[in-house]
Amino acid sequence: MPLNYKNKTVKNKDSMELYKEKNTKKGRRMPITLTVIALLLMGLVSAFSEDTNQTTTFNAPVSSKKDSLTSVNAFKKVYAVLQSPRCMNCHPKGDIPLQGDDNRLHAMFPKRGTDGKGILAMKCTNCHQTENTAGLKTPPGSPEWHLPPTNMKMVFQGRSAHELARQIVDPKQNGNKDLKTLIAHADDGLVKWAWTPGEGRTLPPISHADFKEAWITWLTNGAYAPTK
Ligand code: HEC
Ligand code: HEC
Repeated sequence: MPLNYKNKTVKNKDSMELYKEKNTKKGRRMPITLTVIALLLMGLVSAFSEDTNQTTTFNAPVSSKKDSLTSVNAFKKVYAVLQSPRCMNCHPKGDIPLQGDDNRLHAMFPKRGTDGKGILAMKCTNCHQTENTAGLKTPPGSPEWHLPPTNMKMVFQGRSAHELARQIVDPKQNGNKDLKTLIAHADDGLVKWAWTPGEGRTLPPISHADFKEAWITWLTNGAYAPTK
């Protein structure tokens, strides 16, 4: 932004000086009009740059409220959920989902695949139905059961609170999601599944309602990242 802005200013000034030199005899109104036009242009340029900025740097505070303490405290609750086994098992650092409360590698090592839905005979939905299968150690289920795709891995495993907060709001890492889309994710089917995970599986540390509240509080108060 500063570069564009400067270039435009310099250019306008240069052309104005030229204009003045050539038209000294023709009266003084034109340079004034030009100055007004130049100022308007500068205004437009800076307004445009700010807009662009907002969509590309989501790390900056995202709403009129800028309460870093409220935001960071809310993220601590969010982080406890993100690190819980139900969420982490689908957000591994490698390309194989995890399972159990100890986040061990998924039996038979089904691979992510480009779209996150598995490959060849190991497509996730071959075993994972749209609902949990009854009984212990059976495949959990939800519509669209899969991992995040290769171009947006959304790794939670091994990430500090600081790293994860930055990652979630970084358009380059979150598939260009804006504030509204991120807020809506609290009610995503796969997120909600974590609170009805099927027999024998533990729940995240706080309720879904408390998670949703913390998630929205974090995002709408500037999406600040804890220092560590
Ligand atoms: C069955 C696997 C699965 C489970 C379980 C799961 N997720 Fe995800 N998660 C995904 C997929 C797939 C995506 C990528 C969605 C997309 O393509 O936009 C994702 C993306 C995300 C994102 C990135 C933001 C976004 O809008 O895409 C967040 C945040 C997230 N999940 C949070 C959670 C939380 C919190 C839990 C647990 C309460 C959870 N996930 C459980 C599969 C899962
Ligand atoms: C051959 C069948 C099969 C395939 C293919 C398969 N799974 Fe599973 N999956 C299971 C079974 C069975 C379990 C339950 C294991 C248990 O609870 O002991 C399971 C459990 C899981 C869990 C653990 C849930 C939790 O929180 O404990 C995740 C996550 C998961 N699968 C994701 C996937 C993804 C993503 C794919 C595709 C890339 C996939 N699975 C492919 C059979 C399969």
